[in-house]
Amino acid sequence: MKHTDIKILFESGEKYAGTTVTVCGWVRTWRDSKSIAFIELNDGTSLKNLQLIIEKDKLPEKEIKPALVVGCALKVDGKFIPSERNGYELCVSGITVIGGCPQDYPLQKKHHTLEFLRTIPHLRPRTKYFEAVFAVRNALSFAIHKYFNKNGYKYVHTPIITGSDCEGAGEMFRVTTQPWNAVYKDEKGYFADDFFGAKAGLTVSGQLEGEAAAMGLGKIYTFGPTFRAEHSNTTRHVAEFWQIEPEVSFCDLNDIIEIAEDFIKFIIKDVIENCPEEITYFGERIEKGLKEKLDGVLASDFGRITYTEAVEVLKKSGKEFKYPVEWGCDLQTEHERYLTEEYFKKPVFVTDYPADIKAFYMKLNADGKTVAATDLLVPGIGEIIGCSEREADLKKLENAMLKRKMPLEGYAEYLDSRKYGSVPHSGFGLGFERMLMYITGVQNIRDTLLYPRTVGSL
Ligand code: 4AD
Ligand code: MG
Repeated sequence: MKHTDIKILFESGEKYAGTTVTVCGWVRTWRDSKSIAFIELNDGTSLKNLQLIIEKDKLPEKEIKPALVVGCALKVDGKFIPSERNGYELCVSGITVIGGCPQDYPLQKKHHTLEFLRTIPHLRPRTKYFEAVFAVRNALSFAIHKYFNKNGYKYVHTPIITGSDCEGAGEMFRVTTQPWNAVYKDEKGYFADDFFGAKAGLTVSGQLEGEAAAMGLGKIYTFGPTFRAEHSNTTRHVAEFWQIEPEVSFCDLNDIIEIAEDFIKFIIKDVIENCPEEITYFGERIEKGLKEKLDGVLASDFGRITYTEAVEVLKKSGKEFKYPVEWGCDLQTEHERYLTEEYFKKPVFVTDYPADIKAFYMKLNADGKTVAATDLLVPGIGEIIGCSEREADLKKLENAMLKRKMPLEGYAEYLDSRKYGSVPHSGFGLGFERMLMYITGVQNIRDTLLYPRTVGSL
């Protein structure tokens, strides 16, 4: 179907002004008067609608009437002309209805609540809000690849089906082809007869395979879907999310913290440059001062505090937390948000957590109690990055695993990386949807994904 994107028309307005063009799109709204009808047409290429002007004496009524319907799809010919109010408009000379739209189309109003839109995910991309979300989602993905490509990292694709639980938190979805009613005397027999001849699940993180790649390729990153069977019903948790995981050889915790800050600033800057209209829109629609917030992040140095110091700060804060703080406890969202929103008022790296509350693969510090790990916390969300230097010493790593009652034989290949030419290396995982929330101000992670997967909802 030969036609021109509305985005291209607006971008190259001068070139097209005065010419006859063909556009395709969906009717967002329309107005009718005695002599003129107006249609706001959107084709998904631009946040901005193209205003169609239909002079009623120029077209037969039977051509106009079926087009004045919210949601219907049109192909329109007309003269592209400058306009004071809209920049440009289309003076219509011919209309074809490509797809009609009956009255039960749910998006009749201009504004719908996000709660309502969550009940119709398949129609959400037809709203301005979600058009903007998915435009930034696209730009952010591209910015991420740009950063790593520019800095010499190799993009690797780690498996989605895996046998190893990277985070060791037992939140893996199982993958099986065994009949639902298969009965076995024990687990061993059940899994021996399963598709892979072993217990399999969906990956919670590509890190362990990413480490193997980094041991030969030097610097790598993954960017793929990860899955967690977490029952956390919050605005920041989903069961299927995308994660970016760089893994860097010859790199300690301080080095990786520098990389993480540089990376976050680069992708924010790139999105600001490539999605100015969307950022303005979100600033008006969701988060006042969004652009200033993002500019502030670019201009400042991220904060840094050790876990031990953070616990002191929280205890002295005078705040009534739902979960009291003691050294050794996991920081809850309320603690994270106090640190980043009220104490630092900017993104902050909390470092050197107690070994007991973190994953087995993190490097044990000289104190024997804490690990060389950090979480990056940001205002409004809390944790967006989980990061650490990895334990490169075979004996110490085995000890950490045994302490957690992990079966060493199940991790034989992983342990090989410490046996053969082990080097200091570090990496992190950025939650893509949480980053998207931070950049757009979107308040609920369910509104960053095309089809969000959460407990009890598929
Ligand atoms: O802190 P996490 O669990 O770290 C890892 O998985 C490491 N293996 C990463 C690494 O070092 N390569 O998860 C990383 C990030 C979190 O900081 C958070 O942003 C996001 O993933 N995340 C979630 N996002 C949405 N829904 C969930 N259920 C999430 N769980 C983690
Ligand atoms: Mg974490």
